[in-house]
Order: sequence, then C-alpha cells, then structure tokens
Amino acid sequence: MAIIGPVQQKNMGPPHSRIDGRAKVTGAAPYASDFAVGRPAYAYFVTSSIARGRITGFDMAAAGQVPGLLDILTYETMRGAVKKPTFFAGGGYAGTTIRPLDGPEIFHDGQIVAVVLADSYESAREAAYKVKVTCQAEQPAATFGSAGATTEDAADAKGHEDPAVGDIAAGLAAASATVDADYATPTQHHNPIELFTTTCAWTGDKLTVYEPSQIVHGLKHGVAEQLGIPPDHVRIVSPFVGGAFGSKASVTPRTALAAIAARCLGRPVKLVLTREQGFSVATYRAETRHHLRLGADADGKFTALSHEAWEVTSRPDSYLVAGTDTTARLYACPNVFTKVHLVHVDRNTPGFMRSPPEVPYLFPLECAIDEVAEKLGLDPIELRRRNDTMKEPIGGLPYTSRSLMECFDQAAESFGWARRSAAPASMRDGDWLIGWGCASTCYPTALAPATARVILWKDGRVKVETAAHDLGTGAYTALAQVAAERLGVPVGQVTIALGDSDLPPSPVAGGSITTASVSSVIAKACDAIRAKLGVNDSALIDPGIRVAGFERLGVALVQEYAEFAPHGAKPEGIDKLYAGLSTLKGGAMLEDRIQYAFGAEFVEVRIHARTREIRVPRVHGAFAAGRIVNPKTAHSQLMGGLIWGVSSALHEATEMDLGTARYINDNFADYLVPVNADIEDVSVILVPERDTQVNPLGIKGLGELGNVGTNAAVANAVYHATGRRIRELPIRLEKLLA
Ligand code: MOS
Repeated sequence: MAIIGPVQQKNMGPPHSRIDGRAKVTGAAPYASDFAVGRPAYAYFVTSSIARGRITGFDMAAAGQVPGLLDILTYETMRGAVKKPTFFAGGGYAGTTIRPLDGPEIFHDGQIVAVVLADSYESAREAAYKVKVTCQAEQPAATFGSAGATTEDAADAKGHEDPAVGDIAAGLAAASATVDADYATPTQHHNPIELFTTTCAWTGDKLTVYEPSQIVHGLKHGVAEQLGIPPDHVRIVSPFVGGAFGSKASVTPRTALAAIAARCLGRPVKLVLTREQGFSVATYRAETRHHLRLGADADGKFTALSHEAWEVTSRPDSYLVAGTDTTARLYACPNVFTKVHLVHVDRNTPGFMRSPPEVPYLFPLECAIDEVAEKLGLDPIELRRRNDTMKEPIGGLPYTSRSLMECFDQAAESFGWARRSAAPASMRDGDWLIGWGCASTCYPTALAPATARVILWKDGRVKVETAAHDLGTGAYTALAQVAAERLGVPVGQVTIALGDSDLPPSPVAGGSITTASVSSVIAKACDAIRAKLGVNDSALIDPGIRVAGFERLGVALVQEYAEFAPHGAKPEGIDKLYAGLSTLKGGAMLEDRIQYAFGAEFVEVRIHARTREIRVPRVHGAFAAGRIVNPKTAHSQLMGGLIWGVSSALHEATEMDLGTARYINDNFADYLVPVNADIEDVSVILVPERDTQVNPLGIKGLGELGNVGTNAAVANAVYHATGRRIRELPIRLEKLLA
C-alpha cells in the first residue's frame, strides 16, 4: 500500500503526530465504559421482535429465577417516567421522539421494551433472554413501496426549501445531450468500533453520565429534559470516543433509562449495547431514491438539472438530509429544479451518518455527469471544467474560495489520467477488465459558536479547556497545535481537556465543524492572553518576552475565557451553545456568500472478466480545505474518508427483511466494510488553498470531505471497465453478472 506522506506546504501547519496516540495504543486512554464506578449493577435491554403493533403482556416467571436479578422495568411501571424529548433535527437534543417504556405501542423492530437489571452482565443478559413478551403484531411498512408507507413533501414536513431557478422544461429542451435516470443508495449503519455504552451514577440528586458523545453539552441538556431535572444536576464525561460517524451526536433513549435504573436501585448502572442492538437503538443512514435529469448543450454547458429525491424516515419523526441544497449549487446551470420527499415507515428514526446529505446525493449527479460527458464525447474532467463556477446558480452567491479544478488537475496528474483510453471496456490486463473513473467531492464549510478557557503559566505551560470532542479524528492534537502556535510554546507544553460538560461548551463534533470553530475560539483566548502580556502583534512569544510580561503583571499565570461566533451567527448563538444546541452557519445557509471545501477523486477498478469480482487497486484524491492545521491528521481523515467511500460504493448495506421490517445483517460478520485486503493504494494530495473569509484562521473542515463522490467515481470506473452502468448501490458482482 503506497501512502504519500503528508508534507507541510503553503498555508499548512506542521504534521504533528497525535498527542494522545501513546495513551490510546497503551490502553491508558479511558473510554466511557472504562470508568470505574462503585459496585455497579448491569442493565440489558429486551427489544421488540415486531416492528408494528402493541405489547399485550409480559411473562417474567423464568427471568425471575435467574440468580442475581435485581429488577425488570417495563412500561407497566415506567409510563411517564421519561419526559417527551425534543427532536434534534427540530432544534432539540434527541435522535428520536419515540419513548420506549412509555406505553405498549411498538414503532419499530428492536425497540426497547424492558430493562433488565442484575448484579452481573451475564445475569442481566440471561434474564433478558428469558423475558417473554407477547404482542399483537400488525403488518409493518419496511421501505419505499411498502404497503402503508406514507409520503409527504419535505417542504411541508420540515419547512425545507427546494432550491430551484429558471425554467427546467426550457433547459431540457435546449440540451443536445441529456441523461434521465433513477439511482438508489442503501440503508447503512455507522458501526463505530466502540459500542453504544452508558454508565450512570448518582450522588444525591446529581447525575454523572459516562457515555461516548459528539456533543456533551447537548447530552447533558437532553438527559435533563428526559428526566425532568435541572441541567446543572447532570455531568457528561466522554474524554475519548471510539468512532461515531454521527451515531453519537444525538440523545438516544438509553441514557434516561440507565439513569432511572440507577436511581431505582440506588447504585450505579452500567449498560453496554450489543452490536446488533446498536442497529435499532441508535440512528443510521436511511436509504434514498433519486430521479435525476441533466442536460448539456453541444459545448458541454449545462442547460438543465432536475434532482428529485425520496428519503425514508420513521413514523413520528421527519428526519431528512436533503442534499439537493448542495447538488443544486455545485455547478453553473441556468435551470435547476429540485424536490425532496419523505417516506414514513415503521422503522427507527434515521440520523446523520458520514457526510449525510452529500454521500447519497452526489452519487446520482456525479454519475450523470459521467454519462453526459460520454454522450458529448468529452472527457469528464473537461465537462466539469466547463461548468465550474465561482458563483452558485440559485442565488448567485459567491464562493469564498473554490479549488475544484486545481484538485482535478493534481489528482489527474498523480493518477495518470492522461493514459486513459476513453471507450468503455477498452483497457484490459489478462483476465482483468480495467476501469478508471473520477468524481467531484465537496462538503459545506460550516461553523458554530464555541467557547474555551486557556491558561498560560509563566514557565510556558499551557492548559486549554473546552468541551469539544475527539472522535478519533485528531482534534486533541490539532487544537493543541493552535494554542502552541499562538502562544509560542512547543506542543508538548500544552495540555488539553475535552469531552466533559463541566468545561466551557463547544459545538457538536459533527458537520466537520470542530477544527474551524474551536480553533477560532482558542486563538481568540490566546490573543487575549498575549494582549494582557503586552504582546499584541502576531509575533510568537519569545520566552524572555513572556517572562518579562508576567513579571510586569506580577502574576504566575494568565487565564482567558473567550467566545467565538462565526460569520452569519445570531446573537443568541452563545446562549444556545450553553443550552447544548449547536447553531451551524455556513455552507449554502448564508445570505451573502457560499462556503464549501472541494476535492477530486480518481479510482481504478479491476473486474474479473468471468467472475465479475471487483477489486480497487488505486484511489487517488486531491483536496483543498483552506488552512490545514495538521497535514498528518488531515491526511488520515481524508484517507479514511476515501476508504469509507469505497465502502459505500462496493460493500456497505444494511439488508432488511421486507415482510417484517427487520435488519438482517446486524453484526460485523455480515455487515460488509472494507478490510486491508480490499484496500491497496490510497493516495491523498493536499492542495494548498487560502480562504480569507471563512473564519479568521482560514480553516475549512475536512472530516467528511473524503468519502463524498467516491461512490460515483467507483461506479464510473465500473462503467468504464465493463460498459455496464450500475445506478443502485452497493455495486456487487451479482449486479454485473445479471
Ligand atoms: Mo457527522 S455525520 O456530521 O456527525
């Protein structure tokens, strides 16, 4: 596997290794379920085996015989104990408004129906399997086209505005080449390595929750809301998170149940969901359908883009991603029509997952561009170049910066695109058909209000405190680098505390906003410290100057607390942050401009001529995202993203039994993700870019940039290898054999 090492280029910081790397590989880094609490009881959930209907009774006789059993909570004793939560996507905290143990109704397969409490995990699990639940089952609707599914316009359900401009019919009529096709993306589950765990311990009326979280202040307020207690009685501890991908960004029903159980028993309670329980207790990426029409004139200028899409959600909640906000604005086009529909079925509520809107929505667009390019006899890169724009077409707003074509140029060069023979099925190596494909990626540059406290000691030690989160992304390291650079000390002198709701609040580690938002507030606090010491310019603090400053002040340390609000933020943004709510600003949501990071991805596939086995020997991506704080951690994020992109193209899909609306492959044996044998050369190119507008430091997020568009690049490569256009993901060999 060839990896191009990260090199520090213009507008990039040093490629520092992770400051928490040693703690992680030696096991010293505590994850939520590692925290020792005195004499805990263990909780295990009984979950529903039907997706729609009512519970008619429980038989606890066998469960009651299990040694060590302490209690079994059901709706019969718990009704009303959990208060109605506010939905995250509606400006609240919860990933679902379904309240398990509040009544006999069943909304989805795998819904929590009882909490079994015992002295050991084994006893709790054994008793849980002996609880007999009888139900009156009804026929559930599983997905698109299921009887009983109800469809509504996203515009009605959520107040989503479908972006549109011009006259789509006229635009299509004016085209010399058009594509009119349907595309589909599958259900997927995040499957972070670290399971969904919760440990709850009460001290009097104060609750401490150890739970992996992408938003500790949101979890604190969300749990308080569900328990009906003051938020300042709740503390969330989550210093390390073993992967999240969106699944730990909203409050699940489990936390309140564990807290109530701990209160009932008068002792701490530990809960660790099994891998399969995570599929229905947490959120997931819902399947999507698309009808895309794209037209271009003989010069390759787009004349029309129509993108209509359907997304699945649960019965009570209207979760949507609506990636047409991005696809409508990515290229110059005078006539754009979009419409998003929500389809309600008997499933758990979906949520954010790995570039939630762009992964499913760029897939049809970036495939259709490849199709139109072939019809026009144009290279697909050249077609994108002819429709590149510094102004988005819907509102005419300027991009703050856009290096899309620089990314194509550098990635094409690295990949050797010039050696491609354009005709499908024209490149072959023995039994292997070779296909080369490419696609654009982009991701909105959003930020949210953030706060931080920074302390500088006379001897040069620095402490940074902010309730941001490192999900494995490298945030500890990048944020420490920002403080070190602003205060002129080595990174090794910076200690940094994250992931604790007792710290000043920072926004959700989602939407790729952490580095830009939290670096901005840390820099602000550091600048205030420098001002106090009398070092006002951007020059680094010379140790002599620093010591002189401290002596002048007659203090041993200087401490500054700062608040940062991004461009476009409302004045109440900081108050909302303190209430556990992140108000993201940026992307296509601003009134005066549009902010995105861009990239270009190139894929080689080799497909066996007879078995149709699909291999991916090479993936090259070039990305530009403003100032790169740490090229090493950025490289890792983008490389991981490309691998997830291959996963989304070829491997990942949650299979469902359509009759029962149950997930089938809810385990790591059957839920396919790429392993080392699937991934060979993944090359990441960082393209220098300077953006003076996105924020004072010029940082764009890149955490979710890498895995967008990869699915289309793979599909385009598969077409190039075989002449077969597969428009339904994942692409597996049976689709090529059919
Ligand atoms: Mo990430 S899916 O924005 O939490």
